[in-house]
Amino acid sequence: MRYETDAVRLSGALLEWYDTHARVLPWRIPPAESRRGKRADPYAVWLSEVMLQQTTTTAVHDYFLKFMARWPTVEALAAARDEEVMAAWAGLGYYARARNLLKCARTVTHEMGGNFPDEYKGLLKLPGIGPYTAAAIASIAFGRPEVVMDGNIERVMARFYHVETPLPDARPELKTLAARLTPCHRPGDYAQAVMDLGATICTPRNPACGICPWQKECRAYAAGVAETLPRRMAKPARPLRYGHVYLARRDDGAWLLERRPVRGLLGGMLGWPGSEWTEGGFPETCPPARGCWQDAGAEVRHVFTHFRLHLRVHVARLPAGVRPVRGFFLSAADFRSADLPGVMRKAHAIARKALVAD
Ligand code: ADE
Repeated sequence: MRYETDAVRLSGALLEWYDTHARVLPWRIPPAESRRGKRADPYAVWLSEVMLQQTTTTAVHDYFLKFMARWPTVEALAAARDEEVMAAWAGLGYYARARNLLKCARTVTHEMGGNFPDEYKGLLKLPGIGPYTAAAIASIAFGRPEVVMDGNIERVMARFYHVETPLPDARPELKTLAARLTPCHRPGDYAQAVMDLGATICTPRNPACGICPWQKECRAYAAGVAETLPRRMAKPARPLRYGHVYLARRDDGAWLLERRPVRGLLGGMLGWPGSEWTEGGFPETCPPARGCWQDAGAEVRHVFTHFRLHLRVHVARLPAGVRPVRGFFLSAADFRSADLPGVMRKAHAIARKALVAD
């Protein structure tokens, strides 16, 4: 019983802090309106939470506004062409999210009358919705007291309860502790309040404990170890892979591109023809068209979740009638480097310089 009273007091104190300090974010109902019972549009909550998986609020901000302006409803998104959505997602990373976004929009539109399920279990069955996202949507859009756990919330809990177990092993313990605090009153605001506390005060380095609404009861603060938590197991170093990309520009300005296979990394995105990406050195490879290929003189360096990549960039100018063995030409008018994933944009920037200097 004691826990419950403490929990109500603590969540209440945090909600009070949130009422004046909530970050202004485009997918969020401000606390003053939320207190009056206004609920967020489930479509906007779902879209923002999928975008926010492993991505910062700063990176998501403009993408969210662009998607909402172009596809204001789940039905509009479900009717979009795959290529348009993949291009609009380009640069945000983790492209399986965009493919699942479309699958999910089509399931909700065609099998659920355009209505998202309003509870955790139903949400969890949809493509691209895991435990975190299902809990976030259930609590923020539907007012369900689900336990929402993300990196910020894990850090806040590890400090508040002084959990020394390193991540990821600490996850179940942190979730049990977070569940104690989750209130039935305004659970969506509460989840976002803990996220905001983690993002603005209980930050990874230099936490601002002096202005924290939970400071008096924070066990890590009392022990003087807040900044050292959460502990983490050492991650294995990311292996290094090598590859080649070929950027060809036809005399009329068209670029030679290909669409990457749906399965696999950057699946379904536009990219430059190239080699496999291998460990241990640059692989043997063949260009996608006959021509006078030159090394652009600079390499792309890119970091993915599980490996680092060095790409050697080759460039060529090709005559009008050339027939490539793979890929297709996209006219200068239809080509936008913004439609490419980050790693391919880097190659384009290098190739453009090399072709100008040529
Ligand atoms: N990160 C993930 N979901 C979020 C949200 N709803 N508000 C702020 N940051 C978030």
